[in-house]
Amino acid sequence: MFEAETYIKRRNRLREMVGSGLILFPGNEETPMNYRDNAYHFRQDSSFLYYFGLDSPSLAGVVDADEGKDIIFGDDADMDDIIWMGHQALLKVRGKRVGVEETTPLSRIADVLDQAVKEGKKIHFLPPYRPETILKLADWLHLDIQKVALKASADLIIALAAQRSLKTDEEIQEIEKALDVSYEMHTLAMKMAKPGVYESEITGRMEGLVLSRGFFLAFPTILTINGQILHNHYHGNVLKEGRLLVNDSGAESDRHYASDITRTTPVGGKFSSRQKEIYEVVLKAQTGAIDAMRPGISFRDVHLLAARTIAGGLTDLGIMKGDPEEAVDKGAHAMFFPHGLGHLMGLDVHDMENIGENYVGYGDEAQRSSQFGLSALRFAKKLEPGHVLTVEPGLYFIPDLIDLWKNEGKFTNFIDYDKVNNYRDFGGIRIEDDVLVTENGHRILGKPIPKTIADIEKTAAEA
Ligand code: GLY
Repeated sequence: MFEAETYIKRRNRLREMVGSGLILFPGNEETPMNYRDNAYHFRQDSSFLYYFGLDSPSLAGVVDADEGKDIIFGDDADMDDIIWMGHQALLKVRGKRVGVEETTPLSRIADVLDQAVKEGKKIHFLPPYRPETILKLADWLHLDIQKVALKASADLIIALAAQRSLKTDEEIQEIEKALDVSYEMHTLAMKMAKPGVYESEITGRMEGLVLSRGFFLAFPTILTINGQILHNHYHGNVLKEGRLLVNDSGAESDRHYASDITRTTPVGGKFSSRQKEIYEVVLKAQTGAIDAMRPGISFRDVHLLAARTIAGGLTDLGIMKGDPEEAVDKGAHAMFFPHGLGHLMGLDVHDMENIGENYVGYGDEAQRSSQFGLSALRFAKKLEPGHVLTVEPGLYFIPDLIDLWKNEGKFTNFIDYDKVNNYRDFGGIRIEDDVLVTENGHRILGKPIPKTIADIEKTAAEA
């Protein structure tokens, strides 16, 4: 955890922004895999971590905006727990480490909340995303289980999104610690991308590397020779010459900040001329988008810039036709680039996605498009210093989508379907970095991970 002062400042700022009432943060519980004592890897709720720092199950935190105090609810380990899990520091000692003086048994929480409601205070909480949190909130606040999410506090969501969206230097350092591991993960995968190797062998070595550093995965690894499937978690294929290996993976630092990097490597380590042509289009879209990032520009405009570069590149190759700008306005490029340019990241790889993407990425200042492709953009707001975003354009040949659009006669003025047909077996390419918006522009976080054709081929050859 960080120093106590960090958590005190965060809670005080939240108190100021929300103004009144009790702000309730239920921590996460252990989640059983197949029986109670055989649990999945424990992951604390990110907002609980952000304000209360304690990384263990069955806790809840309250920020009292009226009285200016904070309380952690939880139970000390009993002798049975200590026998199985070892000595545990008392909750009051752990509370002091995050600047909280008042700790009390979890069984007291319903009474404390009841009393606050009787006094006419509002209880603010975030939309719950785990079933056990829904059950706890329903129990503590006497709510209908089906209606708990509807009672989430918009005031809290807006305040928390504003606060957590802007990263401090100590948070950036955490993201960069995770990125140091990403560097090792990606260069290892590039070197292992040889014909005959299974995707699972590379995934296993990469994930082992993350665990060996004392870190964990930020999200399930996407490592596939079928990169046209955007979030392909299947790792059972054997690598074959002629395929491209998309590796979209990330680590989470010991304080739980994420890295999220994608690189695409040709199996065998050498790009074919056809692969080079498409790769250069994606690389130009990615570097051009990063270059455009600075305070004041909207991420929607940066996304559209990348989309125009992709449409322009495909037009130069004869795969698209007509005016690239018009093609992007109409959404024709989205057959090849059907997702958004990137997302905010931090304690969550898609930071704060649990509180609602529109609050985090759009707010009052931007309207979400309903156009296929652009509608998938997770963050459209104007950039501010302290934002950390992924920049991850991709170019994919998705046979089912190609067939659907062709049969519907969609965008025949912008897409040369005969030419596209030659790429049905191409797969996909995605290139992703994590970028901090600074006062004057931007900084690509972490040590540079090979990204140009020459650097990827050089790294792959070092095996
Ligand atoms: N890198 C995985 C994701 O953004 O969902």
